[in-house]
Amino acid sequence: MTPSDLLRALRGRGGSASGEALALDLGVTRAAVAKHVAALRERGWRIAARRRVGYALEAAPDLLDADVVMPLLGTRWLGRDWRWHERTDSTNDDAKAAAEARAPHGTVVVAEAQDRGRGRLGRVWHSPPGENLCFSAVLRPDLAPAAAPPVTLAAGVAVAEAVEEAGVAGASLKWPNDVRVGGRKLAGILTEMAAEADRVRYLVVGAGVNVNTTRFPDEIAAIATSLRIALGRKVDRPEFCAALCARLEAWLDRFFTEGAAPVIAAFRRRAELPRAVRVDTGRGFVEGQAEDVDDSGALLVRTASGAVERVTSGEIA
Ligand code: BTN
Repeated sequence: MTPSDLLRALRGRGGSASGEALALDLGVTRAAVAKHVAALRERGWRIAARRRVGYALEAAPDLLDADVVMPLLGTRWLGRDWRWHERTDSTNDDAKAAAEARAPHGTVVVAEAQDRGRGRLGRVWHSPPGENLCFSAVLRPDLAPAAAPPVTLAAGVAVAEAVEEAGVAGASLKWPNDVRVGGRKLAGILTEMAAEADRVRYLVVGAGVNVNTTRFPDEIAAIATSLRIALGRKVDRPEFCAALCARLEAWLDRFFTEGAAPVIAAFRRRAELPRAVRVDTGRGFVEGQAEDVDDSGALLVRTASGAVERVTSGEIA
């Protein structure tokens, strides 16, 4: 028996039950029940002990572990395998390792803190303990590598919708992966892929969302924001995390069944376009007026010569 089994038994009895009833349900002694209640309290669960009623579940901790988040999940396949770290280097790295070790489609890795959180183009992603969402999902779609980019756009749309569901209006998308509010970055997506020439082996979609952070390192203080800053109050991270999973699953399902068109249309509605851009493609810069995204998710930039360049990957400087 584990503390998680005890939680399930307590929930199964509507949130309150005597030690005796729980011991009976779980086939253990009352002393074992008391020991696991103590372990759960240690992890931040508020469990009252009342005369005549017994144990009563009062509040869950502000953690993103399976015990807290899975009961809130309404998804079919995303997050059905849930892996939590109190601290890790990078959930994207953990998800890749899990994928290599045969983790199923939809496996989610979350962490309370990352020591080497990675952004795009080798940047550092700031991930202080217990404040934000560091989330990575393993996907095993039946896709050619060239058809994968809309996954990043779908994740951006899902985050933007979850941000609005949390009460923050006007979440926009800066191609390809920034979710912004009031011109400041609130979240970023880092999609990584393992593929053969004609087939994706797996994708890892990582999302870093600034949920409750109120102070950023100096170098990003002027350009970053969080849900808490935008709302003026703390946000329930487990609820936000479950809402994001629901939106992400819905958009990925649409992409996998209907193709890129609905994802691109949803991205366009929120895209910060048209705008003047200088895009760092990793192989040089493309400068001009970004006008639109095409049907595969590439950015269309009209350069000074009047020609339109298709940028499939890069970062708007
Ligand atoms: C970016 O905007 O450059 C992308 C940021 C992605 C950060 C997330 S946090 C969870 C996952 N693990 C990582 O190391 N990175 C992504």
